[in-house]
Amino acid sequence: MRVSDVAAAETVTAEAFHALEAAPGAPRTPARRPATRAERWQRRAEHLLRHDPGGCWVAEVDDHVVGVALSLRREGLWGLSSYGVVPRLQGAGIGKALLEAAIGHGAGCLRGIIASSHDPLAARRYRAAGFTLHPAMRLAGEVDRAVLPVVDGVREGSAGDVDLCDSVDRQVRGAGHGPDHELLLTRSSLLVCDQLTGSGYCFVEADGTPALLAATSQRVASRLLWEALARSQDGVAISFGGVTAEQEWAVDIGLAAGLAVHNEGYVCLRHMRPPAPYLPSAHFL
Ligand SMILES: CC(C)(COP(=O)(O)OP(=O)(O)OC[C@H]1O[C@@H](n2cnc3c(N)ncnc32)[C@H](O)[C@@H]1OP(=O)(O)O)[C@@H](O)C(=O)NCCC(=O)NCCS
Repeated sequence: MRVSDVAAAETVTAEAFHALEAAPGAPRTPARRPATRAERWQRRAEHLLRHDPGGCWVAEVDDHVVGVALSLRREGLWGLSSYGVVPRLQGAGIGKALLEAAIGHGAGCLRGIIASSHDPLAARRYRAAGFTLHPAMRLAGEVDRAVLPVVDGVREGSAGDVDLCDSVDRQVRGAGHGPDHELLLTRSSLLVCDQLTGSGYCFVEADGTPALLAATSQRVASRLLWEALARSQDGVAISFGGVTAEQEWAVDIGLAAGLAVHNEGYVCLRHMRPPAPYLPSAHFL
């Protein structure tokens, strides 16, 4: 993949996910992401092309991009950040070739992580590549502000906390996120809890959605998640996925906050147990 492929690759993934989400028989809506989300996808792709050029691949037919796989490698951990094939060419082997190329970027990494959609074609590919499929939940809805507890010990983080975040990552999932923390800082705010008894961090979207959370204890993780939920606004629904059964602490907080629990996709892992307490980033894992 080259930088000049980024816009076309974004369109491919928008079409692939649009077809996956469209309910059978539903009226056809344009297969485009809102401009801000498309822009975010493109910045992420450019970031990965800079840091993981060998992990980013496109498939072409007649000089048109028809498939894409973006992957990253961080301290011995390989992860898949984006993966899609245009709907009319799915099921014909393009995805298999793309995934093999992307996994090649992780040569020498035993451990791997993917936040998978519920697409049976994707699940088939990941299992064939040796990943264990851990069924995941999504918590969604409006936070009941009346039940928000008073949280202490959590402060606003900054670029100066990136080393702390990496060190929590290493303890919880065996590898830091390195440069991905810097990109996340440009699109979300950072909450940090650093105490004698444990440390952790959480990136929070402007609407209160926790985008990535890691902590060395459930106590710290719970404080961070409550503080993230407190940032949500009245009348605005939030949602976060990639929640496996190991994150019961998060399921309990979500339910207590009035969110609904849905079953959605898998956290796919190779040569590692589900990190905990941990809420993965969909794209930086
Ligand atoms: C996931 C995706 C990238 C795979 O690409 P692809 O080109 O369709 O993949 P392939 O054709 O190489 O492999 C699909 C597998 O599913 C099988 N398959 C085809 N139709 C199927 C169906 N209806 N049900 C189940 N399996 C099916 C194929 O036979 C193939 O398996 P095999 O190689 O063991 O025979 C693509 O389907 C896609 O874009 N999905 C929507 C977006 C998405 O969910 N992306 C994953 C993000 S985590």
